[in-house]
Amino acid sequence: MTSVHSEPPDVSGVRPAPPPLWERSEEDLRAHTAEVLHRARARSTALTEAVDDDDLVRQHSKLMSPLVWDLAHIGSQEEIWLVRDVGGREPLRPDIDDLYDAFQHPRATRPELPLLGPSEARGYVAQVRSKALDVLERTSLSGDALTGTAFAFGMIAQHEQQHDETMLATHQLRRGDPVLRAPEPPRPATGDLPDEVVVPAGPFAMGTSVEPWALDNERPVHEVFVAGFALDTTPVTNAAFAAFADDGGYRDSRWWSAEGWAYRSAHDIVAPRFWRREGDRWWRRRFGVDEPVPDDEPVMHVSYYEAEAFARWAGRRLPTEAEWEKAARFDPATGRSRRYPWGDGEPEPRHANLGQRHLRPAPVGAYPDGASPLGVHQLIGDVWEWTSSDFRPYPGFAAFPYREYSEVFFGPEHKVLRGGSFGSDPVAVRGTFRNWDYPIRRQIFAGFRCARDLTAAETAAGV
Ligand SMILES: [Fe+2]
Repeated sequence: MTSVHSEPPDVSGVRPAPPPLWERSEEDLRAHTAEVLHRARARSTALTEAVDDDDLVRQHSKLMSPLVWDLAHIGSQEEIWLVRDVGGREPLRPDIDDLYDAFQHPRATRPELPLLGPSEARGYVAQVRSKALDVLERTSLSGDALTGTAFAFGMIAQHEQQHDETMLATHQLRRGDPVLRAPEPPRPATGDLPDEVVVPAGPFAMGTSVEPWALDNERPVHEVFVAGFALDTTPVTNAAFAAFADDGGYRDSRWWSAEGWAYRSAHDIVAPRFWRREGDRWWRRRFGVDEPVPDDEPVMHVSYYEAEAFARWAGRRLPTEAEWEKAARFDPATGRSRRYPWGDGEPEPRHANLGQRHLRPAPVGAYPDGASPLGVHQLIGDVWEWTSSDFRPYPGFAAFPYREYSEVFFGPEHKVLRGGSFGSDPVAVRGTFRNWDYPIRRQIFAGFRCARDLTAAETAAGV
């Protein structure tokens, strides 16, 4: 067994928050950037050393790449952006650029490529990293848009962590004995929470123009008017979702969109992925372990279509991404948008279940210190949350540093997910961070929460 737990235990000590990146000295910023890159590599190493070489080169699902592809792809992107582009150095392996170009080869076909083997891939990523750290040492971090505040280095650290989450999803799809372990998440510390929170009508600042490592699709900041609405205090739990399944929700087309019903029917979907019925209760497989589905955890491994059907069955709807972001960031006392629900400080273990410290979502109510000013819990971490919004550019969007980062994905075929999961690293999650995926996706660590419009009486009463 290999632990993916490489951070100190969750002792919830309150440390003074470090200053934001843009207020740090160049020396501090450089040290922080190196530390973030190191943290990503520690995770990649743990995830790829947990299995043997056969497992590394095998495709565990047509939906995923072999783990060894992800590993060398991480190195390839780091070489292209940091070593060649920022550093102006000679290419190490120009011959493999094409193999690791995600746009050239869909995941299903990647095992047939002449990929680097496990030891070659490990050697390659180590060589690239040593050059990238050398480039970091020698690059001014007050330069242009690519190097200013170490943006390109932050982008590459986020890229590696995003692949680490993808590799964790591959581990979830892998058959065989469990190979990952981590401590259990905290239990709920609060008493009963209200079912929902009212978010008052009004404008708020959505997106960002100042967050140094925010990606192009999070920019620029712009004002959005959001009508008053009510939002679930916590994500929808397994128990609530099981009630939908047990009530025949999967067999009743009334709750489903036409596309969702067609998808459900074509694949005969009757429960969240990895769930199965045994006797009178639901079980699931989680990283190779069979266990009863825990009632109080956020549901995950549901597609957008399942989330949408549940919401309709419950007489509710999914929130838009503007609603989600307002609930997460808007501070009614100051009228400004925070970086995170809890404030402007970086995520700490007491705030949110992030970074693969735990290999599951925490029960609802487990992170009172991470609640937003309006009292919404667990917006960051635990499970990605489907929103009803298509992935679209914000007004004034400009592709940076390349069109393929976001722009080519804009359109109605992708739905936005927010907040990150237990598998996402803090460097790759922010109040403004936008993820996107096809509405049929179920292998990702995604759940949801529901919203509703206010009634006329509630609106008139100014609640
Ligand atoms: Fe990638």
